[in-house]
Parts: sequence; C-alpha cells; structure tokens
Amino acid sequence: MIRGVLGTSSGFQSAQFREVEFLLGFKDPTFLKYHPDGSAEHAALKSALTSPSLWAEANLAAARAGLPVPASALDRDWSQSYEASEEVEAAWAEVYRDTERWWDLYSLAEKLVDLDDAFASWRHKHVLTVSRIIGMKSGTGGTAGVPYLQGTLGKRAFPELWSLRTRL
Ligand code: HEM
Repeated sequence: MIRGVLGTSSGFQSAQFREVEFLLGFKDPTFLKYHPDGSAEHAALKSALTSPSLWAEANLAAARAGLPVPASALDRDWSQSYEASEEVEAAWAEVYRDTERWWDLYSLAEKLVDLDDAFASWRHKHVLTVSRIIGMKSGTGGTAGVPYLQGTLGKRAFPELWSLRTRL
C-alpha cells in the first residue's frame, strides 16, 4: 500500500507550501527543522519567516496612500504571526465605503480575498479527499490527520478583509 512507500513523508513537510504560508503571514519556525541547515529550502524558509507578509505590504501601501493604519501593523517583528486588529479593519472599511477614491487599494483587496478564498477552498477539498482515503487514520507526517487539517480550515491571511463586510 502507498503509505508503506510514503513512510514519514507528507505535504506537511513541503518547503514550498510552508514558504507560501509564511509569506501569507502564517509564521511558525518549527517547520524549519524539516530542512537541513545550509539547504536552499532552509534558507528560503528562513527568509520568508523574517520578511513582511503580503498583508503587511498591503497595509504599508494603505498607509502610504493616507489611510490611518496603526503603527503596530507597519513595524513589528515579522517572524511572528499576524493578529487581526480593529483599527486595520476600520482603515480598510474606508476603502470599501468609497471604492472610487481608493480604487487601486480596493482592486488589491479583492485580489487578496480571491487568494484567501482559493487557499481555503484547497484546504477544504484536501481534507475531504483525506477523509475519503484514510478516514481517521493519523497522517504520515505525524499529525492526527483529519482533525489536524480541520483545525487549519479557518486560517485567513487577510482577516480584516473578511470581517469588515459586517460593517458595510
Ligand atoms: C490520498 C491523498 C492524500 C492524503 C491521504 C493526504 C493526507 C494528508 C494528511 C493526513 C496531512 C496532515 C499531515 C500529516 O500528518 O501527514 C496532509 C497534509 C498536507 N498535504 Fe496531503 N494528502 C493527500 C494528497 C495531497 C496532495 C495531492 C497534495 C498537494 C498536491 C497534498 C498536500 C498537502 C500539504 C501541503 C499538507 C500540509 C497542510 C497543512 O499543514 O496545513 N496532499 N495530507
């Protein structure tokens, strides 16, 4: 059976997947340990871990355009995961209230929501496939399998772009 060949391999250790997650702001240095020090994968992950996320860059752009983005979203330790903020939500709600004035930021925000949407759809489809194929068996990567993956379904890289809809 395939799991005998897979051994302890899993998408869980994919350097590319974690690099994308890091760039989206889901920072977790424990994933570096799957890639030997000195390897290209380790270096790429480390760089993504310590770089501003895509959402941080969007907030920097919003601040440059004149929106009242709080300092806490503009300058912090980028290796820490992002925590949603009411002030950031309020700043982006302005963009949605006057899309003509903030057209470039509005267009950017909708592309970011597309990205979150696509990523969440992939997570949902993957966990369905996993439960269909291995049921409640644990994963070859060492997690509980389906329960672990279900715990990732709520991840949003641009949380305020979702929560602001309630304000409109
Ligand atoms: C029969 C098909 C599949 C099964 C049974 C399966 C199973 C699993 C399980 C159980 C995990 C949780 C980590 C672990 O303990 O191993 C996982 C994670 C993951 N799998 Fe799959 N997988 C399948 C197909 C795929 C495919 C086709 C891809 C990509 C093309 C993929 C990419 C990933 C990634 C990126 C993760 C990490 C997710 C995270 O940590 O949020 N998997 N998979």
